[in-house]
Amino acid sequence: MAMTEQLAAAGGTPAVPEGAHRRWPDVRQEDREAVLRVLDSGVLCGPNAPEITALQREWADYLGVEHCLALNSGTAALHCCCAAVGLEPGDEVIVPAFTFIASAMAVVHQGAVPVFCDVDPRTYNLDPARVEERITERTRALMPVHLHGLPADMDALLAIAERHGLAVIEDAAQAHGATYQARKTGTLADCAGFSLNATKNLAGGEGGLYVTDDPVGFEAARRLSVFGEDVPPTQPGQLRGYWSHAVGWNYRNQELSSALARSQLRRLDEYNATGQANAAILDDGLAGIRGVVPPHVPDGSTHVYHKYRVRLDPAELGFDGAPTELRDRVVQGLRAEGVEAVLWQVHPLPAYPAFRRRLAPWHAERAGEGLRPWDPQEFPAASRLLDVSLILGSETMPLFIQERPLMERYVEAFAKVLANLDQLLELPLQPVELVD
Ligand SMILES: Cc1ncc(COP(=O)(O)O)c(C=O)c1O
Repeated sequence: MAMTEQLAAAGGTPAVPEGAHRRWPDVRQEDREAVLRVLDSGVLCGPNAPEITALQREWADYLGVEHCLALNSGTAALHCCCAAVGLEPGDEVIVPAFTFIASAMAVVHQGAVPVFCDVDPRTYNLDPARVEERITERTRALMPVHLHGLPADMDALLAIAERHGLAVIEDAAQAHGATYQARKTGTLADCAGFSLNATKNLAGGEGGLYVTDDPVGFEAARRLSVFGEDVPPTQPGQLRGYWSHAVGWNYRNQELSSALARSQLRRLDEYNATGQANAAILDDGLAGIRGVVPPHVPDGSTHVYHKYRVRLDPAELGFDGAPTELRDRVVQGLRAEGVEAVLWQVHPLPAYPAFRRRLAPWHAERAGEGLRPWDPQEFPAASRLLDVSLILGSETMPLFIQERPLMERYVEAFAKVLANLDQLLELPLQPVELVD
């Protein structure tokens, strides 16, 4: 395939025809009817309203867990996890240096401190080999993130947690239906948080799901999510107690989002299977192209491809400039070919000013007055990964909704761009837009 061709970025014909993509979320007639039924019912909210209650039961059954709380975001679900495992102010939680910012912010919302740990460069997930060096006498929990839809290395992480008496919280916000040794993410540790944000494989507009088998943690999470009140399932006509045991938040979901999520849940396995079939086409095709490395899926895990991230190998491509320049030029070249190539989270979390400021008074001695310096070399795998990788499929046009033939065009476009890099290098470098 390594032939000289004019790149679309240099005026050639794009490899992907216009209009070949399908958009996400995939809203069908049954989704519209589910939402309209709620509007017609006149019941739009309430901790025990019918759609919320049904979503909680259906998601718990889908996973095979005892308890589920439908909440207004994945971040709220992760905050509930932090409260449910009993985190106190100043407690430390080990969080991957590369994840979405909300994983670490949920820890801070509980007054605890995220301690960042590097990731495995092949799986992009928390690297168990680097976790123990981050453990201190204040460490109380690990928060593995099943990033992009691939389960983290749970056996190794659970063994570390057991050795040090730590709780384990799964951030499964991107991993609905992914499995680890035949068990679904969300069932692998003490508790888990999922997101129902419209970009996720299970789309409810906005929303989140907290799950656990632990009845005590569940009660704590429920109090946190409704103003510190106890809101057990009510009988018809039974009145709310209005009695707050603790300071809580208003993290409740609402009926419209829950109804949409329930309707989408019926098709979740179908979307995940589509993502897997499309990823298999890309894996096969990209494996034959020099200079690009498809995502790695360890034996015993299934990936649900919320995102499909590939790495470039600058040395193999004979590129000796800044790796980010190569990445940005390849993204531009692919986009000109009609590929949905995007960047997402281009910095490791410890680089963000939010985490380099004084987090809380009890850490003043660590943080000083201004921003703490940030050294990418402290997290070499996460830093390198983000400099050399890009995502195929965007949040509005992800892999798990596309037709199979489009993936063949993606492979052709990739081969064309990498075989004609010299043309790209002559073009002016445009800043690449980041996707939320
Ligand atoms: C890994 C990860 N954790 C947490 C979240 C937070 O979910 P939400 O946006 O629903 O609050 C997200 C969602 O973007 C995520 O991708």
